[in-house]
Amino acid sequence: MKSKYADLRLNEDINKIEEAADCIKHGGIVLFPTETVYGIGANALDEKAVNKIFKAKGRAPDNPLIVHIASIDMLNKLVQEIGEVEEKLINNFWPGPLTVIFNRKNNIPNNVTAGLETVGIRMPSNGIARKLIECADLPIAAPSANISGRPSGTKIEDIIEELDGKVDYILDSGMTDIGVESTVVRVIENKVHILRPGKITAEDIKKLGIDIVIEKQIMEECNPNEKVMSPGMKYRHYAPNTKCLLIYSDDENKLIDKINKEIASGKNILVLGRTKHLNKYKTENKLDLGESLEDISKNIFTLLRKVDSYNSDLVIIEGVKKEGLGLAIMNRLIRACEHNYTEIN
Ligand code: TXA
Ligand code: MG
Repeated sequence: MKSKYADLRLNEDINKIEEAADCIKHGGIVLFPTETVYGIGANALDEKAVNKIFKAKGRAPDNPLIVHIASIDMLNKLVQEIGEVEEKLINNFWPGPLTVIFNRKNNIPNNVTAGLETVGIRMPSNGIARKLIECADLPIAAPSANISGRPSGTKIEDIIEELDGKVDYILDSGMTDIGVESTVVRVIENKVHILRPGKITAEDIKKLGIDIVIEKQIMEECNPNEKVMSPGMKYRHYAPNTKCLLIYSDDENKLIDKINKEIASGKNILVLGRTKHLNKYKTENKLDLGESLEDISKNIFTLLRKVDSYNSDLVIIEGVKKEGLGLAIMNRLIRACEHNYTEIN
């Protein structure tokens, strides 16, 4: 291992977290767990340190980073104002997997926000992430831990090859809890616009009596000439090298029949299906997505990283209903399939 490594899978060694925090204070970059996915973090107030993240990931400079904080005091130092709706969101969902876009103060370097007047901020609930921020006593800018374009890292084994030696320190705490990245929202005229769906769902926010707008770009292909609210939506993301097809139907039997028809066509097909459907597919080449939406959200990035090793002609992925956490899952899968999507009525 070329990066410094601490195994926190069985116990949270505070000395190691302090060591990693020290590394952040001195301008280094640290791979650390959050409740959603792993992140690559740097001092959000240090332009040079933040540049190291862009370099390690090969990330486009026009794609801004999320700043991670551990207190409202930190938030006040970074943003212009906290509106009423934003406050409601914070009170209900922080710490947790929700990123809120604010108008920023000028102490945040331009590379963090990719030159935008806004900054995305979240307070993670993961204990190691919180302690890292607290020990560093700094806001930490961190994108997901992966080379740009690849699925986000939900366990170290999946990303060690692409990131070892590119970060100064690795904090390993095993598999992350949620598996898909945070929900990203921006409040405009008292309405919450969902820019990226996640574990905090539209339904969760609606329950607070707040109006919701789900940005159409979440499920549609982006027109490169059209302005997007979240630059991350423009980029190719999560797609394996093997061609993938996403199929969904409300009618389980129709879904299974359609996939079996594809299998019968003679192509070498790998199926990613829900646990209860797997034995119905007439092929040996299949991977288990899990059963509940929580399982599936936890598993998808690891599975997407596995599919190329099967050398198949086509990967068929079972979709889920675009409701609740299902919207976040479908947003990631449709991009993994590069919008190659069929819905059967
Ligand atoms: O769960 C997560 O959010 C993980 C963990 C590490 O916290 N982080 C993460 O970061 O997924 P990243 O960089 O992979 O995705 C950040 C997304 C991108 O789509 C980016 O365009 C968007 O958030 N974003 C960041 N700042 C923004 C801003 N000021 N305005 C609009 N979108 C923004
Ligand atoms: Mg990412």
